[in-house]
Amino acid sequence: MSTVAVILAAGLGKRMKSTLPKVLHPILGDPSLLWVLRALPREVDHAVLVLHHGKAQVEAELARWQTEGLLPCPVSTVDQGEPLGTGHAVRAAEAELDRLGAERLLILCGDVPLIQASTLQELATGPAALLAMDLEQPGSYGRVLTHADGTLANMVEFKDASEAERAIRLVNGGAYALPWIHLKPALRALSNANAQGEYYLTDAVVAVAKATPVKVETCDPAELLGMNSRLDQAELQAIARERINEAWMEEGVTFLEPGSTLVGPRAVLAPDVLLEPGVRLEGKVTLGTGTRVGQGTVIRDTELGAEVLIRPYCVIQQSVVGAKVQLGPFAHLREGSVLEDKVHVGNFVETKKATLRAGAKANHLSYLGDAEVGERTNIGAGFISCNYDGVKKHRTTIGSDVFVGSDVQMVAPITIGNDVLIAAGSTITKNVPDGALAVSRAPQVVKEGLGKRFLGRK
Ligand code: UD1
Ligand code: MG
Repeated sequence: MSTVAVILAAGLGKRMKSTLPKVLHPILGDPSLLWVLRALPREVDHAVLVLHHGKAQVEAELARWQTEGLLPCPVSTVDQGEPLGTGHAVRAAEAELDRLGAERLLILCGDVPLIQASTLQELATGPAALLAMDLEQPGSYGRVLTHADGTLANMVEFKDASEAERAIRLVNGGAYALPWIHLKPALRALSNANAQGEYYLTDAVVAVAKATPVKVETCDPAELLGMNSRLDQAELQAIARERINEAWMEEGVTFLEPGSTLVGPRAVLAPDVLLEPGVRLEGKVTLGTGTRVGQGTVIRDTELGAEVLIRPYCVIQQSVVGAKVQLGPFAHLREGSVLEDKVHVGNFVETKKATLRAGAKANHLSYLGDAEVGERTNIGAGFISCNYDGVKKHRTTIGSDVFVGSDVQMVAPITIGNDVLIAAGSTITKNVPDGALAVSRAPQVVKEGLGKRFLGRK
């Protein structure tokens, strides 16, 4: 049976007060819509996104996720036009669903990010079902009425509900598995004669329930919370944080302060990882066994090996770091940095598109951009690779077992051989062969007594 997910994401999200479409607002670094897509069960062959407000922005993100391999199945989009209700939204996908030969639909909301894969897996196994929540304070959710056997009898939106109906605690979570053959005619028959003047998907679901039983599955309310405001966003993030951190603790990760540590949903942490307070891991971050991440460090899309020591306040992105590397405090690894095993990169060192071979050290106040540093080479304090001539970037290549003294600049493109000594304070503009010493600095002048005389004048 062909199962197609329909994800509703055309709403404006007025209460977010944002230029960013609601479904692109992040929870622990990943947009809400990406969480939903990732939770889709294996049975789903294709996903159709119903968009309107912010459509171009959402499509641009989708294209990026596609190239990064983050989409679990092919995804297409349809434009709802002016959103006239959830029923109108699914109807906007009618032609696309027919084109795809959809038999069963999994209908979800793009702004309900914490729905679990296991829940959707279960939802997708039956022929027809909806997710409901039992709430002490059912608020403005649609109310669900069931038959004696627990299947769906009726749904009433809060604004259309009588006092007696409003007292019902079972509410609609807005996620459904439905046969397209029954839903399609029900959508076509919808009317908007209701309190909100909208085409309610819920009315169509009730019509389906007249043709075939629709199971009502009660689910943990935390999974069905929607993101309608910044307050919701913060609440969702707190729930996700607790869920993720607790799962990693079960796997042998230490959190010195779980409440301030934000680990994204795509992080992979080995046992004996230790995260200090205020650490943030976003995107695809992999940490090897025994690696310690210092306070206030931010890491994005980076792979770190085993027993890496990151001292506090480092910023690391799109980099690959080997085993037993030491970083920081205050190191900045930018995109394309590759640090092989046992490299040391110390305070106020910035690297970008730089490879530091095993055992290389750059411990103080340096910039290594578009550079390669050989094995065991030592970069002194205050080194600068002058990689940019104002128009183009150029490479600096330094061999192995080189000693670069402090306060050296190398004007790229430039190549330094192995076993070279570069004298402190040099500006190196020409290539240096293996084994050589290079020095370029003005000769020192010493005038006896002149210093004291000069100071005496003050
Ligand atoms: C809907 C349900 C309600 C349920 C609640 C759960 C209906 C009529 N009501 O209410 O029973 O308790 O969800 O959260 O379905 N959207 C579109 N196009 C539209 C309208 C909405 O794409 O024309 C999208 C929104 O962007 C959102 C989702 O559909 O992602 C749900 O819409 P929303 O307005 O939040 O639904 P509710 O009226 O709150
Ligand atoms: Mg609404």
